[in-house]
Amino acid sequence: MSNKIQTLSGYIHEYAKSVQDPEHFWARIADSFHWQKRWDQVVDWNFEEPDVKWFTNAKLNITENIFERHLYTLGDKPAIIWEPNDPSEEVRTISYKELYGLVCQFSNVLKAKGISKGDRVIIYMPMVPEAAVAMLACARIGAVHSVVFAGFSATSLADRINDCKAKMVLTSDGNFRGAKKIAVKDVVDEAVEQTESIEKVIVLKRTGQEVSMKSGRDIWWHEAIDGVSTENQAEIVDSEDMLFILYTSGSTGKPKGVVHTCGGYMVYTTYTFQNVFQYSQGDIYWCTADVGWITGHSYIVYGPLLAGATTLMFEGVPTYPDAGRFWAICDKHKVNQFYTAPTAIRALQAYGTEPIEPYKLDSLQVIGTVGEPINEEAWHWYHDHIGKGRCPIVDTWWQTETGGVMISPIAGVTPTKPSYATLPLPGIQLAILDNDGKELIGNSVEGNLCVKFPWPSMLRTTYGDHERCRQTYFSSFKGYYFTGDGVKRDEDGYYRILGRVDDVINVSGHRMGTAEVENAINEHPKVIESAVVGYPHDIKGQGIYAYVICDMEGRSESNLIEEIRQTVTKIIGPIAKPDKIQIVPGLPKTRSGKIMRRILRKIATGETSSMGDTSTLLNPEVVEEIISGAQ
Ligand code: PRX
Repeated sequence: MSNKIQTLSGYIHEYAKSVQDPEHFWARIADSFHWQKRWDQVVDWNFEEPDVKWFTNAKLNITENIFERHLYTLGDKPAIIWEPNDPSEEVRTISYKELYGLVCQFSNVLKAKGISKGDRVIIYMPMVPEAAVAMLACARIGAVHSVVFAGFSATSLADRINDCKAKMVLTSDGNFRGAKKIAVKDVVDEAVEQTESIEKVIVLKRTGQEVSMKSGRDIWWHEAIDGVSTENQAEIVDSEDMLFILYTSGSTGKPKGVVHTCGGYMVYTTYTFQNVFQYSQGDIYWCTADVGWITGHSYIVYGPLLAGATTLMFEGVPTYPDAGRFWAICDKHKVNQFYTAPTAIRALQAYGTEPIEPYKLDSLQVIGTVGEPINEEAWHWYHDHIGKGRCPIVDTWWQTETGGVMISPIAGVTPTKPSYATLPLPGIQLAILDNDGKELIGNSVEGNLCVKFPWPSMLRTTYGDHERCRQTYFSSFKGYYFTGDGVKRDEDGYYRILGRVDDVINVSGHRMGTAEVENAINEHPKVIESAVVGYPHDIKGQGIYAYVICDMEGRSESNLIEEIRQTVTKIIGPIAKPDKIQIVPGLPKTRSGKIMRRILRKIATGETSSMGDTSTLLNPEVVEEIISGAQ
């Protein structure tokens, strides 16, 4: 049975049904999956604790819904098409049957190496099919994966291993990224030294570079799978058992482990994948994200494979060997649905249309964006030059915590509007609240974006610290899930995301906590205090602007600034490196000692003519000094 919405009136009808009787609505969608035991209740929830359960007491294995459910009809169909970093290297096409064998085999390896249900496994790997195999093998045996983006530093990796007390790391010798070769195994070695729970490290040979293998701990992937059976009986788990943990930044210093569970995540990612992208059997779908982010989890691996789709995985970067690479891949593989980030669009837009000219792009039917607001100019460029005015753009708003797309056009069904994520998907009951917690009813309103009813793939907790989950998402507005985003609902009822209203900045679609970056900067021995804010950046959406008070003795400013950049790279990773660092004599503070970020944001944005009242500051004179040195 198809759950695909095909007309605007169909959407309106489905949305209405999903609000009037959510249990019936989701039961109908869930019925198309394979459950070892059906649920007792569709949803059981309260947003106070919070305590949310979907498909209570149902039993399943998510990988049975990818493989056993599809093998009979789709066994020989490509599940994954892999495009390597270097275009002259061979493409790999893996059918559902082959992927099934690889996943079963690696499930057997994990078990043989001591992993059982509930154990946490870290995946720190390049964009190769084995990364998907690793995730699915964990899911098959009921282990919990936590994928860490392979650009994070050893310290960040160690923090995540320690937070979830992982037993194993799956990694590679090195990664290819454009013209660079990155020594990934060295990072893992350094990280594991700072942890106590890791028993085994399995290493995929990818670049062939020299690595040291610690005897008793490290195993080569190809040796581990050698001669291992490709058959495996899936572990049957509860609908609410943990599927994965994914760490994400928030407004406090330490990234938190967002927990997703099996049943609801399976149902929602499949449903949204099929509807948003209007995937039809035989189509080639490509999402350019990395599996280290939620987009990679939900819309490279789980959603598409659960829907029996062919998902393209790309190892490289958009500008290697040249700025036409994305478009070359679209033509080479006849991609039908293409999903990327506004930051990539803006970066490619900067090269002009010349790199696009050699390509037809005539297979494209739907093009999508995710991760940050898309400005009108980039939207039009994408629409005209990539979509050739023919393909609908799906601007999908969602978060690590939401598990799946929440607000988005349904391709070809919902009329689009540049820079608008448009309308909520069925099942998503949004509310806009003012700062006093009053729900703003009707159109032409602006405020805090909240959700008032649970949806199947919402986060259940933050790993090891449920109170933090309650505090972060459920305490600002009682009875609501608070997203941290500001939003406008226009006169047509369309939603436009205005960006974060908390201390989180969005750099190239990556979430960065200002406190997290400040903590890293403060690790430099000469730094006394720092404050980090976001500012508009042409390509990245937002850039990182750091104001730093330093002990300058014996140091030149330029050396110190470079050292601070390196400190942040070492502690978090290159993605957190500040774009601008200004050494300042002081930071504007209130009389109670709180940094006035509002003022720093204005200076970073160059809006110095409208500073507002600074006379109540403890040190108003510092504002002029900062303005005069601003970059
Ligand atoms: O601010 C919103 C922005 O990205 C945040 C979520 O980041 P993350 O958990 O890393 O997930 C990104 C990929 C799902 C949101 O709170 N964001 C995401 N999509 C959009 C967006 N802002 C505007 N428009 C979007 N389409």
